[in-house]
Amino acid sequence: MDSEKIIKELKKICGNKYVISDRKELISYERDWDQKSSGLCLCTVLPKNVTEVSKLVKFCHRNLINVIPQGGNTGLVGGTVPVLKKKEIIINLKRINKIYEIDNTNLTADVGAGLILDSLNQKLAELNLFFPLEMASSGSSQIGGNIATNAGGMNVIKYGNTRNNILGVEAVLPNGEIIKSMNKVMKNNTGYNLANLLCGSEGTIGIITRSILKIYPILDQSKTLLIAFTELKNLLVFYKYFQKYFNTKIERCEILTGINFKLSMKHSLIKKSFFQKDHDFYLLIKLSFSEKKYDIYSDLDYFFNEYKDLFTDVILSQSLKQEKDLWKFREVITEAQKIEGLVIHNDISIPIANLKNFFNDCEKDLNKKIKDIIVYPFGHLGDGNIHYNVIIKGNRKNYKLLENKVYETVNKNVTKYKGSISAEHGIGLFKKDELKKFLDKNSLNLIKDIKRNIDPKNIMNNSKVIDL
Ligand code: FAD
Ligand code: MLT
Ligand code: ZN
Repeated sequence: MDSEKIIKELKKICGNKYVISDRKELISYERDWDQKSSGLCLCTVLPKNVTEVSKLVKFCHRNLINVIPQGGNTGLVGGTVPVLKKKEIIINLKRINKIYEIDNTNLTADVGAGLILDSLNQKLAELNLFFPLEMASSGSSQIGGNIATNAGGMNVIKYGNTRNNILGVEAVLPNGEIIKSMNKVMKNNTGYNLANLLCGSEGTIGIITRSILKIYPILDQSKTLLIAFTELKNLLVFYKYFQKYFNTKIERCEILTGINFKLSMKHSLIKKSFFQKDHDFYLLIKLSFSEKKYDIYSDLDYFFNEYKDLFTDVILSQSLKQEKDLWKFREVITEAQKIEGLVIHNDISIPIANLKNFFNDCEKDLNKKIKDIIVYPFGHLGDGNIHYNVIIKGNRKNYKLLENKVYETVNKNVTKYKGSISAEHGIGLFKKDELKKFLDKNSLNLIKDIKRNIDPKNIMNNSKVIDL
């Protein structure tokens, strides 16, 4: 069927206004957030409900048209970049953004996939509740995309990742059929867990249109600490004791490095450093608790006195404003790196006990193999997820080759230290080759079998995650 005819049929389903084919308008849908890669889709469609999504997919299924599900397009692995020239349609869920129910007793929220994460939390905050996914892309990423990527973020140590906080999903399968596995109960052992099968599937086996989420009461007290260290070794020892002592009160624990501070100031994303002197390593920690009588100050006093030889300076937030400034610095790091140059995101997990050796070996290996690179490590120390991001300096003609060398070198060290090559961003388009090296043959074959059975015509995001 020719493109004109296809677009005409799509307009019959969603209305002229919601089928975008203007080249200029399409760019923002076709290019990834990092602006490292873009492609040409046939058009982008904005359905208003699950029935329209089902009709669209049935039409594409009948006519073998490839479909790319899309949320806020903040993914960092090229998960929605078209690869077959004008042969794919992007289905963006932004219009399916209703909050159907907030159940304050059951602590669940029933929401449309196109709802933006921040919009959900703004509404929940009115009821002193929140959905615990906390990340710098929350202003544009959608709940459907968060589920499809099993997003992690900063609160994983206390609340788990998206997979731990979904109870049910409604989705449209590659044949256009709708599944409604929308339960509000914590325990529900009725066959395979379809919500979890779709969670992390990156748009390759179904389009999530609605979900039931677990929500939580906002704890009345919180404190943020920024602690400075001269060496990674001391930071890791400090964190081990801190974790034992403060345990479930730790809501977030991020590791930051001096090089990222400097970059954020260079690009005026933060005004000044928080300390007089520069340091190489920092922990940014948020403690949250509800006990009214808990005297956090004496506990912190005791602890910092006990371990005073391990750290060089500390700031304890004295106001909500200061707390926000501290977290703002954490949130702008990715933006600062993007301004600095093309970022190679190594979103890896390493068992915390192996982190020091990983840092030593990996940086040595990289510098041996590639000249003029800078490593900007930071991330979610509490769950071992480090963003070991690399920028290659200067305009290198053989950039792709060098990028692959960086992935290869980092991932070799990740395997050596028993980590994961993708902690929270997924595989998408950029990490497919690395996935083939990382997983064993039987696991790869099982993933292919699942994909083949659910999407036998291979029309759903078929160039992402795994090639059949
Ligand atoms: P998109 O980018 O639109 O799509 C991502 C993938 O999901 C694609 O494969 C797409 O096909 C699929 N998809 C999207 N919507 C649906 C749907 N409704 N049904 C089925 N498949 C769908 N990620 C983290 O985990 N933790 C972080 O801390 C974090 N921080 C970030 C900070 C910045 C500044 C940026 C730019 C990104 C960050 N990310 C982080 C990555 C990204 O925000 C997450 O992966 C997010 O969950 C993607 O959501 P999205 O709606 O933008 O999805
Ligand atoms: C983050 O935690 O900010 C991200 O996952 C983004 C990154 O990798 O840069
Ligand atoms: Zn992250």
